[in-house]
Amino acid sequence: MRKGFADNNINKNNPANPPSIIVLPAGFPCSEEELDYPAKKVDEEFFEQAYDEKFISDDLKDKYSIEKKTGLPVKLDDMVVKDYKLTKPCRIFVGLANKNKLLEFISNDCKRVLDDGSPIEFYINASAAVRYRKERDYARNILSVLKGFGTTEKSKTELKKDGIYFDYPKPVNLIKYLIQIGCESEERIVLDFFAGSGSTAQALYNLDEEETKTRQFILVQLDEAIKNKNDKSRSKTIFDITKSRVLNSANKFSNRRLGFKIFETVEDFRIEEDDEELTLSNLTMFDDVLLTDEQYQTLLITWALYDGSELTTPISNIDLDGYTAHLCDRRLYMIAPDFSSNALKALLHKLDDTDDKDFDPNKIVYYANNFDSVKQMELNEALKSYANKKSIEIDIVVRN
Ligand SMILES: C[S@@+](CC[C@H](N)C(=O)[O-])C[C@H]1O[C@@H](n2cnc3c(N)ncnc32)[C@H](O)[C@@H]1O
Repeated sequence: MRKGFADNNINKNNPANPPSIIVLPAGFPCSEEELDYPAKKVDEEFFEQAYDEKFISDDLKDKYSIEKKTGLPVKLDDMVVKDYKLTKPCRIFVGLANKNKLLEFISNDCKRVLDDGSPIEFYINASAAVRYRKERDYARNILSVLKGFGTTEKSKTELKKDGIYFDYPKPVNLIKYLIQIGCESEERIVLDFFAGSGSTAQALYNLDEEETKTRQFILVQLDEAIKNKNDKSRSKTIFDITKSRVLNSANKFSNRRLGFKIFETVEDFRIEEDDEELTLSNLTMFDDVLLTDEQYQTLLITWALYDGSELTTPISNIDLDGYTAHLCDRRLYMIAPDFSSNALKALLHKLDDTDDKDFDPNKIVYYANNFDSVKQMELNEALKSYANKKSIEIDIVVRN
């Protein structure tokens, strides 16, 4: 496969594409600066037989000393190239699947033309074959047999050098190839549900470096215990291995800012099981809930995703006189317990501060368990009765 374009010989030596004579004009492009290829000597009988059989058989090639190599048209005139162009017309005898395109290219002064919406051009290569090169939005010439991409044994040895012990890691070159086929565009995201040692991350980082692209990936890995007894690293689970490989791979490109985040699925630790948003009518008194840092972050990211943001959407911390709230896609999340009257004042002040254009929440979501009913009343009333100078209409949502 060639990335992003197809590059092939034009010849189709079979009865479905009977041969004919085509004149390549002076100026026809060549990949080589110079080329001199003598004409083949053929006669009437040659043409008669070829037209009769509708292709150039091996017997016929033998008889007229024509190379059996596929991809070479029969040259009826000397093919002479100087300065990357034919110096004089050269007739070729060849069967073509896309003859009309070649003729269109020739009548367009040997400039690229469109074929199914993609630019196509033709040229002579170093072996005097005539080839076409067609650009594609994404790679399509896919190999049917994958060979020479390395082995899991070799990859295992490579990884050991980095202190990573993993059985059967896939060869990085193989994954690179697969990414080229399936994820040519930077807008696509590579998803590997069975990340293992994280070969996909390394392949993607390497390929991005070569192609100066910035694709994204999602790797998924269970925290499965490591069974490899030879593991001399301190990894306890396969996930630990995935993480160190992603880190190692990213660190190899310190000139590029390669970031990634790790998310973990966890049991629901919230007191209430139902997810429904509370209304003021079912407010109850709760004791403040102390969340661990991890639970705090889990709640924040769960809400952000629930509200339609993406894993990569930035969440910025907003300081409200010592209280930290979080702004994500115009939603302000307030989870921590210490929301004070001063924090409320700071919030109202920020809503009025027309110079602070980045602060424009249209929804405030707060964690019921950490806002007692007095605070909830205070917050709701203040925001509902107050016309802020930025004229933002704000929804208030209470969540468990
Ligand atoms: C054969 S390995 C993948 C090897 C990887 N391509 C590499 O080059 O290192 C398959 C991985 O999938 C993981 N796995 C199996 N079931 C899974 C699941 N349901 N969710 C996530 N990972 C899983 C296994 O722990 C194992 O690490």
